[in-house]
Amino acid sequence: MRLVLVGPPGAGKGTQAKFLAYHFKIPHISTGDIFRANVAVKSSLGVKAKNFMDAGDLVPDAVTIAMVRDRLAHHNAKRGYLLDGFPRTVPQAEALTNTVTDLGTQLDAVLELRLDDEEVVRRLSGRRTCHGCGRVWHTELDKPEVEGICDACGGELFQRDDDEPETVRRRLEVYREQTAPLVDYYADAHLLRTIDAYGSVDSVTARGIDALEQAAAT
Ligand code: AP5
Repeated sequence: MRLVLVGPPGAGKGTQAKFLAYHFKIPHISTGDIFRANVAVKSSLGVKAKNFMDAGDLVPDAVTIAMVRDRLAHHNAKRGYLLDGFPRTVPQAEALTNTVTDLGTQLDAVLELRLDDEEVVRRLSGRRTCHGCGRVWHTELDKPEVEGICDACGGELFQRDDDEPETVRRRLEVYREQTAPLVDYYADAHLLRTIDAYGSVDSVTARGIDALEQAAAT
């Protein structure tokens, strides 16, 4: 399966991507995670991306598209993948269409997670991420047993710099202006499946699997 996850910041894309990728036995490719890993080691890609990320803006298309094109050519993406956070602009979506076509493949479905701004702010203000394994937690909604420590690997949890309230507001604006048009783009391509992202993590995963299995069957 070749899948794309789309939705506002904090909708639960990263959380769901891990379960969906496991279920469909495909790699989870998150452009946000790739950028953050590069920022952490101060690579030239990380240096280019950092200021945009800190401001809540998108990293320029040319940089992002080249990075994803390389990643999709990797051997472990040959039999499928779940893209999380890409595409985020119409030019990125067009580049993805060209890349999958050049590779002799096609997308199977685009899953949209829907959530309102109030819930986005609540989810992002309490988000904590594990330094060790990248597992995402929440201070109220999905707490680890011991505050600040990951249940899965014992790693220390941290708060992302771009989860400051002002940056979250900017990320929501950017989503509305640049990413929301992809919903119509993929509806026109008959690839879009939309689910409600409210409710427990498990219930959203079940809805996502159901929607994607239906898409695969058509
Ligand atoms: P990225 O990392 O992709 O951030 P995002 O899209 O803003 O999404 P988030 O990671 O903030 O949220 P999410 O939907 O994954 O939610 P999560 O599962 O963590 O991108 C970061 C930056 O990188 C961008 O701003 C940009 O600068 C750059 N970038 C990345 N891709 C790019 C691209 N293609 N082009 C250009 N620039 C790009 O969940 C949030 C919280 O809610 C967690 O605490 C979680 O525990 C909790 N939660 C999740 N689900 C539930 C539930 N069902 N119930 C209760 N709590 C829940």
